[in-house]
Amino acid sequence: MDVSTAISQRCSVRAYKATDVEEDKLKKILEATRLSPSASNRQEWKFIVVKNKETRKRLAKAAFGQSFIAEAPIVIVACGTETKSIMACGQPAYTVDVSIACAFMILQACELGLGTCWIGSFKEDETKKILNVPEQVRVVAMTPVGYPNEPRPEKFRKSLSQIVCWERYE
Ligand SMILES: Cc1cc2nc3c(=O)[nH]c(=O)nc-3n(C[C@H](O)[C@H](O)[C@H](O)COP(=O)(O)O)c2cc1C
Repeated sequence: MDVSTAISQRCSVRAYKATDVEEDKLKKILEATRLSPSASNRQEWKFIVVKNKETRKRLAKAAFGQSFIAEAPIVIVACGTETKSIMACGQPAYTVDVSIACAFMILQACELGLGTCWIGSFKEDETKKILNVPEQVRVVAMTPVGYPNEPRPEKFRKSLSQIVCWERYE
């Protein structure tokens, strides 16, 4: 699968088969994550791979009961390990860096026939407690990883003319 196919086929998957994810596929997903860019190449991130069923259930609960998260055999929790750096443009580096890494992760998963769903709706404190995340580390996102158990939905997106302007902001 090429990148543009992965981009067009990727969708948020909210129903998963219990089928295990092969170790070589998991490794490829983590490798894609590792290779993603970061501001000044700082790579201040940590990705927690959770397979334990009880822990997955607790994470789903921390994500306001989004139970499909625990259906997948793997949940990956993405953390920023240094959160003080603000880029010259005024944006905190860690949210941008970790988000790009997660984008690489979910596109690689898509190429391998695996589903993911970016989860931003979770109680961070509870998530950190469950996973023993140090106080200064922030949890940016999590995603289930597993084989989809639902058809791919139609994509709804704004048109290019709605989101692109030329030469100046309009
Ligand atoms: C930052 C962010 C946070 C999100 N949080 C959640 C979430 O907590 N639960 C969920 O089911 N989907 C979540 N999503 C998925 C979006 O709802 C989804 O990407 C959007 O509706 C577009 O659909 P698609 O991913 O199938 O293309 C999140 C997506 C992003 C980018």
